[in-house]
Amino acid sequence: MAETAELNLPGGQSISLPIFEGTEHEKAFDIGKLRDATGYVTLDSGYKNTGATKSAITFLDGEEGILRYRGYPIEQLAEKSSFLEVAYLLIYGKLPTETELKDFSGHITKHTLVHEDIRKIFDGFPSATHPMAILSSLTCVLTGFYPDSLNPNQSTEEIDLTIVRLLAKMSTIAAWTYKNSVGHPLNYPRNDLDYCANFLYMMFSFPTEKYEVNPVIVSALNKLLILHADHEQNCSTSTVRLVGSANASLYGSVSAGINALWGPLHGGANQEVIEMLEAIERDGGDTSKFIAKAKDKNDPFRLMGFGHRVYKNFDPRAKIIKVAADEVLKALGLQDSPLLKIAQELEQAALTDQYFIDRKLYPNVDFYSGIIYKALGIPTEMFTVMFALGRLPGWIAQWKEMRENKEPIGRPRQIYVGETERDYVGIGERA
Ligand code: CMC
Repeated sequence: MAETAELNLPGGQSISLPIFEGTEHEKAFDIGKLRDATGYVTLDSGYKNTGATKSAITFLDGEEGILRYRGYPIEQLAEKSSFLEVAYLLIYGKLPTETELKDFSGHITKHTLVHEDIRKIFDGFPSATHPMAILSSLTCVLTGFYPDSLNPNQSTEEIDLTIVRLLAKMSTIAAWTYKNSVGHPLNYPRNDLDYCANFLYMMFSFPTEKYEVNPVIVSALNKLLILHADHEQNCSTSTVRLVGSANASLYGSVSAGINALWGPLHGGANQEVIEMLEAIERDGGDTSKFIAKAKDKNDPFRLMGFGHRVYKNFDPRAKIIKVAADEVLKALGLQDSPLLKIAQELEQAALTDQYFIDRKLYPNVDFYSGIIYKALGIPTEMFTVMFALGRLPGWIAQWKEMRENKEPIGRPRQIYVGETERDYVGIGERA
């Protein structure tokens, strides 16, 4: 007999709730009928205890520090795979054959050009516009070039084309966002380069010089993108699924996800980490002062890049990134970077400080990623854009899964705590 959980409510009411067990033995009791049967709903601020969906994409065990995409450990994928292979895996559920990967990559390469009108749109953004705002706007604007994507009843082939277009064009838009922000000419994509090399070319080449792609940088970028590719139901992914559940287009849903990612408590933390390290350097490099600030409950300052909603032991992505950061900085002759030294000191101090030990606050993926991006020459304001590029396959896979599972529109309940009914008071009679 299927397991159930018994819920006893005031007034002698009770209900049997079916227990659902996932393939990794996580258990949930299903409250789908709770309100209809009892009038009660659950209250779970920040969804800390709520499984919003059943998903077969990413498995994460925060206590054990495990992260797997479609069953494959992140450590193996980071070492052996490529970003587009991982994108295929996340989106289509299996590792591609050689032919499938060739076709998929070839398709993406063929679609990297964006409509020339995109160049004109760049001219309309105020000069202070953050790259994430531009990325989100231009991702949404793709609906204007591909209006068929607004049709919620698109065929599988049409959706596959939208997916390829998005994966291809977002790297061009991201690179152009940077080029535009520094007033450089925009580089058109090059079909003879692979995804990472082409992105670096569009970011860093000049029409006046021959651009040499550095394999160390390509490999580091590939790893970073893989490590960011999915992270189950985080804030931006939940946003993509929620927006998509209203039958919004893939472009519109991902555009919303980009805005969620921008927040400093989410992907925006990678920019904040470097800004924090630079602030510590400018202040003379005394990390203990900043640790004390982070512990002071009257000070809103937090040690950026530390702590995670789900990982309470270690963030497996941070472990891989830390090693990659050492390798990249060494290969580029930057091993004596003062920022790296400050980061290492901060990590050491935080890991031995009782405040951080008690609250299980460890370096997260954003702590070292910014150091690598900086070493690669990527400007600070672009860090979260890099996160978005990496997370894109995950957002797409989650949007597609939500759609294929025919999930209902997302619409949480609330417990109202405002005024009860009262009569309108004319403006002259108000106190
Ligand atoms: N520095 C100092 N104290 C912290 C920090 C921090 N970075 N993070 C959490 N705490 C404290 C917090 O003050 C609270 O203390 P107390 O119990 O005394 O009130 C306790 O630890 C629990 O914090 P919380 O805010 O309830 O934890 P949460 O699970 O809601 O938040 C978090 C997770 C990632 C938002 C938070 O740890 C944080 O703000 N970290 C800094 C921002 C950051 O690095 N974000 C990137 C996350 S990883 C990339 C991604 O997936 O987006």
